[in-house]
Amino acid sequence: MVSYKELGLVNSREMFKKAMEGKYAVPAFNFNNMEQLQAIVSACVETKSPVILQVSSGARKYANQTLLRYMAQGAVEYAKELGCNLPICLHLDHGDTFELCVSCIEMGFSSVMIDGSSLPYEENVALTKKVVDYAHQYDVTVEGELGVLAGIEDDVVAAASVYTSPDMVEDFVKKTGVDSLAISIGTSHGANKFKPEQCTRNADGVLVPPPLRFDILEEIERRIPGFPIVLHGSSSVPQDKVSIINKYGGALKDAVGIPEEQLRKAATSAVCKINIDSDGRLAMTAAIREVFAVKPAEFDPRKYLGPAREALKELYKHKTINVLGSANRVE
Ligand code: G3H
Ligand code: 13P
Ligand code: ZN
Repeated sequence: MVSYKELGLVNSREMFKKAMEGKYAVPAFNFNNMEQLQAIVSACVETKSPVILQVSSGARKYANQTLLRYMAQGAVEYAKELGCNLPICLHLDHGDTFELCVSCIEMGFSSVMIDGSSLPYEENVALTKKVVDYAHQYDVTVEGELGVLAGIEDDVVAAASVYTSPDMVEDFVKKTGVDSLAISIGTSHGANKFKPEQCTRNADGVLVPPPLRFDILEEIERRIPGFPIVLHGSSSVPQDKVSIINKYGGALKDAVGIPEEQLRKAATSAVCKINIDSDGRLAMTAAIREVFAVKPAEFDPRKYLGPAREALKELYKHKTINVLGSANRVE
């Protein structure tokens, strides 16, 4: 068993306390390879933003759990080398079993999500409480989820969104002892968050999605004041990246995300953590497709992964400065 504290990582408790007081949200960026990690760390160092490195079970299988542990430790050292002692949290994204959460905690994760949102309520409570009781022995923080996001939640496929019921949050938080709660107020995973028929079109013909349910968020805040809320599925799906991908042979159709101004508004509320994965995937893919198309003779991976890493870094800097408000929050 390795403690995250030995790796120089922190749990999310203090991060969320500061985010709540400062009215911003901590970015939770998913990663599974070196270039993504370099981009996240360098962007957060340059903008002085706390950060949550997020690993899904699929990412853990892809990258190997032992390598991931050393990569996270390397991220701490890399940040120091770049001149900033960033608070870095290593978080399991969408953990679906108690055993997976235990295994991650034993490998140095400082925070885990147990996603029982697809289970009947009492089963979600029981599973989440079991994870909390285990995790808290090691000072590892736990995120639970109530309500179901539309789209694909890792292995859990949710056909339709079921908004979080404010009536249930107080009971859930009390019974489980979770440290933060992911809620469903209209965000959704992936690059096609809404069907075109759910959207309107602006003057340029661009799809405009239905607004987030801030009324539900406000009611939840009223029921559990000062409790950290998490938003999954919060990519904005930048249309410039979608256009580059499609220009160079991609086939993304009707890709639409959550408008940035809505995330900006959410970040000033009790929302303390905002999850972004798809936007990073789009930024990398656009950069790589462009190199492949413009320089077809290129075959050194550094020549396409390098530009992809740079594009990712710019994207993450933009998120911390202009969307989440987490920039300049670290001494
Ligand atoms: O919410 C899901 C994340 O974007 C992770 O996706 O399971 O494909 O790694 P993944
Ligand atoms: P996006 O697909 O909107 O980036 O959401 C990522 C996420 O919620 C990871 O848990
Ligand atoms: Zn998610």
